[in-house]
Amino acid sequence: MKRILIINGPNLNLLGRRQPEIYGHTTMDEILADLGREFPQIEIDYYQSNHEGCIIDRLQEAGYGPEPSRPDAVILNAGGYTHTSVAIADAVAAIPQPVVEVHLSDVANREPFRRHSYLTAVCVATITALGPAVYSQAIKTLIGV
Ligand code: DQA
Repeated sequence: MKRILIINGPNLNLLGRRQPEIYGHTTMDEILADLGREFPQIEIDYYQSNHEGCIIDRLQEAGYGPEPSRPDAVILNAGGYTHTSVAIADAVAAIPQPVVEVHLSDVANREPFRRHSYLTAVCVATITALGPAVYSQAIKTLIGV
């Protein structure tokens, strides 16, 4: 496991500012800096989009783009699309690499509409409710620590 791509979906560009009582005060830049220190042996790429089709394009590129730029695994926080997007689930299923689903918040214990994820069935693992630590936990899961 040398290269991992993290994909964040809609509104996650606002991490640290958006509803901090739910998502915390840590920004994604801070999370990425911490991950770099914790896993110096892994190249971590990051992509964020508020647009469903862009997330699908990035997943397809990860799976079928030029060989040298293909990650070994993907960590996906699809935000609200988690609960709505058959198309993102299809893209996850379509690529050969393992994908770990993450959510900072405890989606099982919030509004009922957050309890269903289209992604869980096509991901190798789902990690929730640990705040920013979900990303680190996802990497540990992928490298088998
Ligand atoms: C989220 C949970 C989703 O329900 C929500 O729409 C988000 C963030 C999380 O990380 O807890 O945007 O994926």
